Amino acid sequence: MEIVSITKRMFLILQIWILLNVSPYLVHCQPSQLPLPPRVLGPETSGFDTKGGGPYTGVGDGRVLKYEGPNIGFTEFATTSPNRTKIRCDGTNDPISQQICGRPLGLEFYTRTGDLYITDAFYGLLVVGQSGGLARPVVTSFEGKPFAFLNSLAIDQERRMIYFIDSGTVFRFSNRVIILRSGDATGRLFQYDIRRNQTTLLLSGLSGPAGIALSRDKSYLLVSELIAGRIRRFWLTGPKTNTSDVFASSNVDGNPDNIKRTVSGDFWVAVIRRNILPFPPFTSRGQRLNQLGQVIETRDFTAQYILSPAGISEVQEYKGKLYVGSLDQNFVGVYNV
Ligand SMILES: *[C@@H]1O[C@H](CO)[C@@H](O)[C@H](O)[C@H]1NC(C)=O
Ligand SMILES: *[C@@H]1O[C@H](CO)[C@@H](O)[C@H](O)[C@H]1NC(C)=O
Ligand SMILES: *[C@@H]1O[C@H](CO)[C@@H](O)[C@H](O)[C@H]1NC(C)=O
Repeated sequence: MEIVSITKRMFLILQIWILLNVSPYLVHCQPSQLPLPPRVLGPETSGFDTKGGGPYTGVGDGRVLKYEGPNIGFTEFATTSPNRTKIRCDGTNDPISQQICGRPLGLEFYTRTGDLYITDAFYGLLVVGQSGGLARPVVTSFEGKPFAFLNSLAIDQERRMIYFIDSGTVFRFSNRVIILRSGDATGRLFQYDIRRNQTTLLLSGLSGPAGIALSRDKSYLLVSELIAGRIRRFWLTGPKTNTSDVFASSNVDGNPDNIKRTVSGDFWVAVIRRNILPFPPFTSRGQRLNQLGQVIETRDFTAQYILSPAGISEVQEYKGKLYVGSLDQNFVGVYNV
């Protein structure tokens, strides 16, 4: 009798323990995955068109793909390199191929025209119409020197300005471990005026700028510095115009990659942290920062990206879902907010 009731009680405790510990995990982390076409890897960033279509995503073999629903999946929308061939490029994901095939890392639609602006690591700032195809170069160099490695962009739709970043020389051939150890500070922030067709350097000496976002009131830009492990704020209006300060550093739990603003004005930052143990190589988290730079929510994606050598690259909130990007996985992760 005694033994039976103890066993029963232990079983009950075990059940409660499982209920308390496992079910919240299941409720919070019901991820779904939007699979890329066979062999294709690295959906680094996502974008949505002016009609809410997509996500569009830039992948490692140089293409921008468009998601057309569960039956069709991702189809080819645009390319950035005139030298790209399907035989040479489709399914590749290495820096040598990407010099020939392209590597789109920033996507945003321009609402006035419906065009898609793309920043490609090797092919500069480009634009493509609503029907896609080979994108047209807009800016490929500054003061006669080609950009080293363009990364993300953000568009001020009213002022017709595109803000974009050049990550610097170390990004060209290096993997993330080498990039993070390099201490490089050759990154720059640029502004492209669509109406005037004019490019202006806003800030240099950035340490691995990787992500950029425009504040909701358009008074400042945030630029993540992946290598330095901090987020810089560049003022566009007000008394501090054209100067920058540190928006967040000690509360960023590692190295910040892409930054995406939410409708409410907060920012989701994809943050990776190199682990001491070799497996998994990175801890991958999304940190939601408010406009004061305070962390108001943290989501851990490491379990779903345990096989990713580089971890996540982006967390983007869109219509009640979080879209998660990476440099080396074969799916776009989708989570409930
Ligand atoms: C692409 O092709 C053009 C000629 O068609 C050549 O000048 C250029 O160097 C090529 N670029 C790369 C990255 O191979
Ligand atoms: C924009 O300016 C560049 C030179 O800075 C020039 O080569 C290009 O043709 C101009 N584009 C347009 C559309 O005027
Ligand atoms: C900020 O910099 C831009 C570009 O160099 C310049 O056109 C503008 O006049 C500057 N604004 C202020 C307030 O300094």
